[in-house]
Amino acid sequence: MSLNIIFTAAITIVILSTLSPTNAQIAAAPSLSPSSAPAPAPAPPFVNLANLLSVAGPFNTFLNYITQTKVIQTFQNQANDTKQGLTLFVPKDSAFSSLNQSTLSNLTSDQLKSLLLFHAFPKYYSLSDFKTLTATPINTFAGGSYPLNLTDVAGLIKVHSDWTNPKISSSVYSTFPVAVYELDQVLLPQSIFSTTPLVALAPAPAPDISPASDLAPSLSGLSPKSSESVNNESSASAICINLLNYFIFAVAGGFMLML
Ligand SMILES: *[C@@H]1O[C@H](CO)[C@@H](O)[C@H](O)[C@H]1NC(C)=O
Ligand SMILES: *[C@@H]1O[C@H](CO)[C@@H](O)[C@H](O)[C@H]1NC(C)=O
Ligand SMILES: *[C@@H]1O[C@H](CO)[C@@H](O)[C@H](O)[C@H]1NC(C)=O
Ligand SMILES: *[C@@H]1O[C@H](CO)[C@@H](O)[C@H](O)[C@H]1NC(C)=O
Repeated sequence: MSLNIIFTAAITIVILSTLSPTNAQIAAAPSLSPSSAPAPAPAPPFVNLANLLSVAGPFNTFLNYITQTKVIQTFQNQANDTKQGLTLFVPKDSAFSSLNQSTLSNLTSDQLKSLLLFHAFPKYYSLSDFKTLTATPINTFAGGSYPLNLTDVAGLIKVHSDWTNPKISSSVYSTFPVAVYELDQVLLPQSIFSTTPLVALAPAPAPDISPASDLAPSLSGLSPKSSESVNNESSASAICINLLNYFIFAVAGGFMLML
């Protein structure tokens, strides 16, 4: 139920933010009755992390790990603590399945907890906050020997653990006090994985540009070399057709006016 409220609030914020400030004021003004007192500052929204992670993602593997280790209580406590807030980096299920199975199952329960706590900052950071923090190690929830570095290269924010450097592939939720960002790799700190990958990383994860290929599934049968030019040609001809349509409409409109 609270999730519905969150979504409704999120949608409202999106709608309001698409309105220009003056429009927003005009739209909001009539709804206030003249006698109503100034609106009190709204309480920060309560975010139920288990609910959020179970509908977003898929983040089931991470959710299962933090539930089974009770780390979720630490995170939820921090999310409830509205002074500092919480930033969570959540690897997708595919990030876990690309790890060698025994990589995590070989860990002691303390190591597994640290690994999970390593995926969070005990403080809320918006994406734009990261731009000002780059190149400074930030202590994670796992403590002083588990820092993460973040870098912003032309708007691409990467999280640097010792063995993986995934980019933030999506902002799942970011409203103070809780930020949840999606990663396509699990963060692997040297403090736990002291030697070269105890981790046999499966085939390299899809490159950054992969989403583009989703845009042209019909071209998948073509060789990579030709697909680009075909793509360009087809989009160019699509533009021509659009212009032609527009021209025809314009001419037709002209005739209508003359009649
Ligand atoms: C967080 O706050 C919610 C709502 O106030 C409460 O139900 C929940 O028990 C709290 N959880 C923790 C771990 O503090
Ligand atoms: C996982 O790691 C073990 C030990 O390094 C190795 O023997 C095994 O082949 C690896 N499995 C995969 C699927 O990479
Ligand atoms: C996990 O532990 C087993 C047994 O100790 C070992 O054979 C295997 O290489 C370990 N796997 C990894 C990825 O460290
Ligand atoms: C993080 O930054 C510090 C200082 O700039 C550097 O010493 C460390 O190697 C970096 N760690 C990673 C994982 O990039």
